[in-house]
Amino acid sequence: MALRNIVTEGDPILRKVCRPVGEVSPRIQMILDDMVETMRDANGVGLAAPQVGIMRRMFVAEPTPERVFCFVDPEIVSMEGEQESEEGCLSVPGMAGTVIRPEKIRIRGLDRYGKMQDYKFEGFDAIVMCHEFDHLEGVLYIDKADDVHELSEEPEEE
Ligand code: NI
Repeated sequence: MALRNIVTEGDPILRKVCRPVGEVSPRIQMILDDMVETMRDANGVGLAAPQVGIMRRMFVAEPTPERVFCFVDPEIVSMEGEQESEEGCLSVPGMAGTVIRPEKIRIRGLDRYGKMQDYKFEGFDAIVMCHEFDHLEGVLYIDKADDVHELSEEPEEE
């Protein structure tokens, strides 16, 4: 496995609509494994293929430590409710902003082994999956947040 470079905002690759993967080949599995390693190395909870310069519809996510999901050609089949939270993105370092997302989603897609999976997520898990899915459409959270601000390095003193 190898770490990949994370593309940052301003690079046009983050703004393109990604193409379907199709078959989960050994090469695709290798990329997914690299993405998991890269996500963990950057202390992220999700990483989409365009963030490592690959214009394909796949992402990895680890909303809870040691519970990794790989999605290839995912499809969000239903959404329900609303929730608001502060998000950040490895491609927009040092920033955060508030985004409204569905409270619950159902998403299906191929896993790392090419097997079709169908999951329901809610709460933080749903936020992460929606954020990563947006990357496949060339959408960043900063497009949806109107309070994007710098994250202070240290807690502010009163
Ligand atoms: Ni992101």
